[in-house]
Amino acid sequence: MTKLSEQQYQVVVKSVADKKALPGALLPILHDIQDQLGYIPKAAIDIIAAGLKQTAAEIYGVISFYHHFRLDKPGNHLVEICRAEACQAMGSEALEQEIKSKLGIDYHQTSKDNNVSLEPVYCLGNCACGPSVKVGERVYGRMSGEKFSQLMDKLSTYVVELGQGENHAS
Ligand code: FES
Repeated sequence: MTKLSEQQYQVVVKSVADKKALPGALLPILHDIQDQLGYIPKAAIDIIAAGLKQTAAEIYGVISFYHHFRLDKPGNHLVEICRAEACQAMGSEALEQEIKSKLGIDYHQTSKDNNVSLEPVYCLGNCACGPSVKVGERVYGRMSGEKFSQLMDKLSTYVVELGQGENHAS
C-alpha cells in the first residue's frame, strides 16, 4: 500500500479530528478528504478507522458502497456524465455510450494516458439543458458526442501547452 505524503497525512488527520464528533461522522470525513485530495488514499483507511473506533473493513465497505468515492487517484480531468431522469430523457444513455467508446474506458476508470477519469453523477442541477456533463468544476449542457470530442481536444492541447511552458521555464 502506498504511503501517504506528509500533506495527505495532515489532511486525513485533521479531517478525522474536526469531524469525528459529528453524528454519522464517516461520510463527512470521506467527503472532506476526497474534496481536498481528489480521492481517498487506501493508506488513509486505517487512520479513519482508528479515529472512529471502527474496523478498516467497515470503512472500506462504506467507501465501496458509494460510487462517489474513489480509492485511486483520478486522471488530469474528471468527467462526470449525468444519468438522472431529465438528462436520460434528452439522450444521456446514448451519449454515455459514445463517450465511453471515445475514451475507451467504463465508469470508475481512468484513460491509459491518465488524462481522463469517468464517473456517473445523478443530477448536476442543469436539468433544463440536458444532457449535462461536468468536466472538472464546469458543467456543460446540451452535450453531444461531437461537442465532447472538441472539448477533449481543447483539454489535451491545454495540457500539452502547459507542459511545454513548464519545460521552457526549467
Ligand atoms: S437530470 Fe441531469 S442535470 Fe439534472
